[in-house]
Amino acid sequence: MSSSTNNNTTLNDQPTDVNVGCCAITLNINGQDHAFTVEPRLTLLDALREQLLFTGTKKGCDHGQCGACTVHINGERTLSCLTLAVMQQGQRITTIEGLAEGNALHPLQQAFIEHDGFQCGFCTPGQIMSAVALLREGHARTKDEIRELMSGNICRCGAYNGIVEAIIAVMEVSDAAV
Ligand code: FES
Ligand code: FES
Repeated sequence: MSSSTNNNTTLNDQPTDVNVGCCAITLNINGQDHAFTVEPRLTLLDALREQLLFTGTKKGCDHGQCGACTVHINGERTLSCLTLAVMQQGQRITTIEGLAEGNALHPLQQAFIEHDGFQCGFCTPGQIMSAVALLREGHARTKDEIRELMSGNICRCGAYNGIVEAIIAVMEVSDAAV
């Protein structure tokens, strides 16, 4: 485990201060500890994106309506825009950046590509994080059940058919492996 440094670098090489606010916390993200300070009101979404630069997690509505900000906390899908960062000390947080193993995409990432599960891609990290949890939960067996249990993730491009096909494809492979 390693801790983050005090300064990160943005894509345009502007340094950004990871320490903002009074509360010292350590968040375990994708298996790595990050020690920094936050304001008590800061959401996990903003901590991830603005302070730690895990920008794979997207901000859509910022009030629990679209699912773009979905991450896993201890393996359960969670809306990071409705979650306070200071309350996640000691929790195991997984973001879209933590799904692939090296150059090997997660099976659902690969399936989204193969089944055209996206168009612009903005909703895709949230869709995939939600779908990974859905498969783990094991409650969906049919396309209708998948649609119902993925209904918290909105896609403005309307890529829903491809998303369902991708999930079904991974589910079938998983079933065959049992
Ligand atoms: S950004 Fe969190 S649900 Fe829309
Ligand atoms: S792919 Fe564009 S919003 Fe879903």
